[in-house]
Amino acid sequence: MVGGVEEHLTVGRVAELTGVTVRTLHHYDEIGLVRPSARTAAGYRAYSAGDVERLREVLTYRRLGFGLREIADLVDDPATDAVAHLRRLRGLLLEQRDRAAATATAIDKELEARAMGIRTTPEEQLRAFGPGLYDAIGSAYPATRRTEPRIAARVWDALGDARTVLNVGAGTGSYEPPDRDVTAVEPSAVMRAQRPVGAAPCVAAAAENLPFEDRSFDAAMAFSTVHHWQDPIAGLREMRRVARRVVVFTHDASDAGWRQRFWLTRDYLPEVAGLVAGRPSVNRLARVIGARMDPVLIPWDCADGFFEAHWRRPEAYLDEEVRRAVSVWTRVGPEAEQRAVGELRDDLSSGRWAERNRDLDALDAAELGLRLLVA
Ligand SMILES: C[S@@+](CC[C@H](N)C(=O)[O-])C[C@H]1O[C@@H](n2cnc3c(N)ncnc32)[C@H](O)[C@@H]1O
Repeated sequence: MVGGVEEHLTVGRVAELTGVTVRTLHHYDEIGLVRPSARTAAGYRAYSAGDVERLREVLTYRRLGFGLREIADLVDDPATDAVAHLRRLRGLLLEQRDRAAATATAIDKELEARAMGIRTTPEEQLRAFGPGLYDAIGSAYPATRRTEPRIAARVWDALGDARTVLNVGAGTGSYEPPDRDVTAVEPSAVMRAQRPVGAAPCVAAAAENLPFEDRSFDAAMAFSTVHHWQDPIAGLREMRRVARRVVVFTHDASDAGWRQRFWLTRDYLPEVAGLVAGRPSVNRLARVIGARMDPVLIPWDCADGFFEAHWRRPEAYLDEEVRRAVSVWTRVGPEAEQRAVGELRDDLSSGRWAERNRDLDALDAAELGLRLLVA
């Protein structure tokens, strides 16, 4: 035997363990992708621990659908060590798993609809293959979205004496209390990848199906996320199931509560009516979890750039960076966005906006329909 083969695995054994044919392993050797570093006395290829590590990386990239040439570049990259490869592969696999789960859910829905004699529209059928909204827009999020300390204080206060907290739809974790034991849930891989180093552990899951036992947490919180859930009622019931206390920061999307109250939706972006149509009312959400509902005023200099945050700083909405971090602007579509921004720009320079909204100058905080539900 050549080269300490006792610590090596023969090509036959490797084929048996991996389910890859000997022929494929020979091919990987011939093209230089995985070269076993030794031979048995009988001349069979034998894989060292290092060869096996490389083969494992190759097979995992293969399973993810990468081509052999691409894999060769990836595994030969001197800047990526084994741990970095494992981290990257793990992220890619979880993403693939989430995508498969989302596709299965879409198929379930389609089957359900067919069983009831309903045909889904071509647009609905295609949407299931597109990226989730936050996988598409999430990378613009951290530029302007951060903790607003005055609103965070309200949320943390509402959590009471909870020691263990589940943060559902956690995003980058802006509102996670620093002094409690937090577990985050976030379905978007792009958002999970942007969580800061040292942030609470984050599980890839959706609110509607929380992978936790009943009463696993003292409290469950959801900040600015319920309106994105496919089924908000099911998600809130799940929060109720896994936690003793539930705290939800959301908004009243009714006409009087929100759309007519905020100059941006009232005067420039009436299209938001279409986005909120058919959504359960905030009263219904509160009832589902038996919550009390408190208004949350938005300070004029709100640090978190959510949709309503710049109510006294209208020029901010002309800034593409501000808009890209807020899903409403993507959801109304580019045509409505360009029209609204153009009209606002004109009104700001003509003085019409200032004339119409003179009363805002005197306010330090505004009631724009944001609500804290506490149950
Ligand atoms: C506006 S962001 C808010 C993120 C974070 N809570 C914050 O305040 O910074 C909305 C988040 O909800 C997440 N989301 C969308 N659908 C969800 C679902 N079904 N279950 C849980 N989270 C969801 C999105 O991926 C996104 O990260």
